[in-house]
Amino acid sequence: MYLHFIKLLCVVSLAYSLPKVEFPKLKEGGKIWALLVAGSNGWGNYRHQADACHAYQVVRNHGIPEEQIVVMMVDDIANNSQNPTPGKIINQPDGPDVYQGVKIDYSGLLNVVPEVFLKVMSGDSSGLSERGTGRVINSGPNDHVFVNFVDHGGPGIIAFGRLFLHAKDLMETLADMHKAQKFDKLLFYMEACESGSMFYNLLPKDYNILALTASNPDQSSYACYWDEERETYLGDVFSVNWLQDSDKEDLAKETIKKQFHIIKKETNTSVVCEYGDKTIAEMTVSEFQGKEKSTANVYPAPDPNIGAVPSENVDLEILKYQYRTAMTEDDRMFYLDKLEQETKRRESVPVIVKKIVDRATNNINGRAKFLMDTRYDLYDTDCYKTVVEHLADNCPMLGLREQFGYALKHLYAFVNLCEENVAMETILSAIDKEESCFGGKF
Ligand SMILES: *[C@@H]1O[C@H](CO)[C@@H](O)[C@H](O)[C@H]1NC(C)=O
Ligand SMILES: *[C@@H]1O[C@H](CO)[C@@H](O)[C@H](O)[C@H]1NC(C)=O
Repeated sequence: MYLHFIKLLCVVSLAYSLPKVEFPKLKEGGKIWALLVAGSNGWGNYRHQADACHAYQVVRNHGIPEEQIVVMMVDDIANNSQNPTPGKIINQPDGPDVYQGVKIDYSGLLNVVPEVFLKVMSGDSSGLSERGTGRVINSGPNDHVFVNFVDHGGPGIIAFGRLFLHAKDLMETLADMHKAQKFDKLLFYMEACESGSMFYNLLPKDYNILALTASNPDQSSYACYWDEERETYLGDVFSVNWLQDSDKEDLAKETIKKQFHIIKKETNTSVVCEYGDKTIAEMTVSEFQGKEKSTANVYPAPDPNIGAVPSENVDLEILKYQYRTAMTEDDRMFYLDKLEQETKRRESVPVIVKKIVDRATNNINGRAKFLMDTRYDLYDTDCYKTVVEHLADNCPMLGLREQFGYALKHLYAFVNLCEENVAMETILSAIDKEESCFGGKF
């Protein structure tokens, strides 16, 4: 309860407004760089690339030159066989095409991966020309960097399709960048489930980095704007809220703090949080998203909270819709069967996780039950990273390599095992011995 209270503090922290300080703007000769990333792929994840494309339009419309923007997305949506408007992507009902003009630097399943992301962000171009344009965030000590990431996530991880970026590696890279003076200020907007866990307790306040996340460390982020024609969601609540705000505001007059308050108020599905150096919030949004006044049309958009669903339920919601609207009895049976499979797959997740936790703790004195019911904060990022990677590779029934957001949520139990100081070898061997990981009997 106590831990939980602290975590929720981000809800109120900004209620105590900071003293008004005249905050330095972009330094003489400084540039603004933007790194825009959608990690996922597949039609069911349409919304992630839609958010990222929209972010591209926002920073371009506000004057950041193409040369200072790097984009990573798998790029399987615009031309997807399921796209009724080939070559076009929208981010709100009846919205404009946000795909138009987007220059993608790294695309494809093999290139939109954590390793490339970290290299691009930190300006290390070695080996990257074989994986895309080879362009990186080539920033220096006078520059501002804006990073926007969208995909699935879980405790201490964000996904790039089937691979994970761990909080540990993100923090190490940000620390290296800080030390090497790769930026004057860095602003990170992150949309993912449990996205707060990537920064909470981990991001120091003196790195000149501010991070805004779609949710706190143990909540889902939410998909929004169900589209009946496309049979997928068009956006995510946190993302469309900041994007639509940036579309219509005069960014040279709006502080980040104000944008944060607006998004926080408008996102009532999850708790939008901020981490790191909060004095950066006194700067104007234009310091990171571009200094020019946008002349782009502003399209009225419906409230994204209405009909929003937790990101990990999107696959289920799509199947339910397909079942409800099936035209023939055969189709109905087909989707009913898929729904049943999906339901079973979900039900098996906590059962498998509990069995591993039982084994790892010898189920002494209800310890396993306690570890299934609690949520520790993540500190032991080394243990956790090794365990998660081992689990993803050795417990296929959990679908961790299949963008199965529902299983990602349950990784909190492995945070708990690491934080309870259960020996890592014990956890790994408990995973290896668990037959249900391979579809064996429960
Ligand atoms: C999508 O299709 C258009 C038209 O055929 C083509 O020019 C473009 O290169 C395709 N893009 C991708 C990513 O396949
Ligand atoms: C979120 O906001 C929408 C629209 O403003 C409203 O319909 C909905 O009830 C709100 N949900 C919660 C949980 O407050």
